[in-house]
Amino acid sequence: MSSAVRFETVGLRYDAYGPEVLRDVDFTLPAGSFHFLTGASGAGKSSLLKLIYLGAAPSRGQVTVFGQETTRISPADRTSLRRRMGVVFHDFQLIDHLTAFDNAALPLRVAGQKPKAYSEDVQELLNWVGLGARIESYPPALSAGEKQRLAIARAVVGRPWLILADEPTGAVDDDMAVRILRLFVELNRLGATVLIATHDHELVGRSGMPSLHLDRGRLTQVPA
Ligand SMILES: Nc1ncnc2c1ncn2[C@@H]1O[C@H](COP(=O)(O)OP(=O)(O)OP(=O)(O)O)[C@@H](O)[C@H]1O
Ligand SMILES: [Mg+2]
Repeated sequence: MSSAVRFETVGLRYDAYGPEVLRDVDFTLPAGSFHFLTGASGAGKSSLLKLIYLGAAPSRGQVTVFGQETTRISPADRTSLRRRMGVVFHDFQLIDHLTAFDNAALPLRVAGQKPKAYSEDVQELLNWVGLGARIESYPPALSAGEKQRLAIARAVVGRPWLILADEPTGAVDDDMAVRILRLFVELNRLGATVLIATHDHELVGRSGMPSLHLDRGRLTQVPA
């Protein structure tokens, strides 16, 4: 099976003289797989995701995403690779001056699709995450949980090959967390590779999906 993500002896330091926050990280996520990423606060979960979505470069080792070595990628390939990924950021990174609908539709708009072609899909997705009545609202007027659900909608709306989510259920109640998990599982069934960083051990246990576990920058549990 081809790999979606491959780390080979990856190390990451944010500062030349600072500590390595990821050390000797080695793993492969097969295309179409579903994994959680667990570990204590500060273990390096968000940093690992950042290396995959090209938000940082490894200090040593190699990160390969859909066959492309991320440190050697051309600017054009970088843009197209980035468009294949849907990322749910820990701090959501919504655009405050766009409505919920326009935030969710942004990846489609950037890809050149016309509102006529996507508006029904976007509405349906927003209904699914319980934001159907908030499509005209702006992010500053949304609760933390609503922002989180909007960030999830935006991440998945373009049917990305790879979904990376950083604690995507941290701000919602248990019922909504289960619903969001179902959405990710469904998208995985349709072919997306999924990696979700989480503290929610109950959600991990309930899902029956495998985990990678980070302990102070080292991977102590790798996918089978
Ligand atoms: N931009 C940065 N500059 C310097 N150090 C950073 C930066 N971002 C993270 N770190 C450090 O890297 C280490 C790993 O942080 P990271 O955010 O990846 O952990 P995490 O597992 O996502 O934690 P949490 O569960 O609290 O979100 C921490 O020691 C953190 O202080
Ligand atoms: Mg984090």
